[in-house]
Amino acid sequence: GKPLVVAIDGPSGSGKSSVSRETARRLHAAYLDTGAMYRAVTWHCLDTGVDLQEAASVEKASREVDLKISTDPDHELVSVDGTDVTLAIREPSISSAVSAVATTLGARAELIRRQQQIIADSGRRIVAEGRDITTVVAPDAEARILLTASEEARLRRRGIQLGGTQGDAQLQEQVLTRDAKDSTVVNFHEAADGVFTVDSSDLDFEETVEAVLAAVRSAA
Ligand code: C5P
Repeated sequence: GKPLVVAIDGPSGSGKSSVSRETARRLHAAYLDTGAMYRAVTWHCLDTGVDLQEAASVEKASREVDLKISTDPDHELVSVDGTDVTLAIREPSISSAVSAVATTLGARAELIRRQQQIIADSGRRIVAEGRDITTVVAPDAEARILLTASEEARLRRRGIQLGGTQGDAQLQEQVLTRDAKDSTVVNFHEAADGVFTVDSSDLDFEETVEAVLAAVRSAA
């Protein structure tokens, strides 16, 4: 079919991953979770004892790691040097360390390159989500969307996702501190020129998917 790259950015807790995955299913497109790639490099650095404060080592690790990620929206799989890390990369220890990789510019450049390759290999029929897809990875995408939600809504969703066992302070620390660190290298709080904003604060999951699909239809 004709190319359809849908780029979706947004902060954590905006519902970005589940909404993007479902959007890909409905469009019969591939799906790329770029955050999973930053998480996988972080897992690899922790596993092999790479000091996350040493930019040159983190960059080298990002270049050399054998990283595989499924782009089938119905089959989630991330592997590092042949080890299945699909579940391991969701651990809180990874969430709290991942910004160190994301703010290492050499590692970012390497992951951006890999992401652009995955998008090209998909035949450019793909929904790709992250923090810099609309602006850096795929600024030429047919549809570009910023998925936002109020701070309150984001904290509520993350709390539910984590099973409601975390205290408010811990949750705030995990969601807001990570976004603040990430914001030093990427702007995912404001829509760039030509990027359509979907605010999911008062929408349920299905309504958010519908709003994203409507944005795709109007843009592409
Ligand atoms: O989307 P998710 O919360 O899994 O992303 C994990 C981390 O990966 C983010 O907190 C951010 O540090 C990094 N990231 C990024 N650029 C992207 C996607 C994710 O810096 N495009």
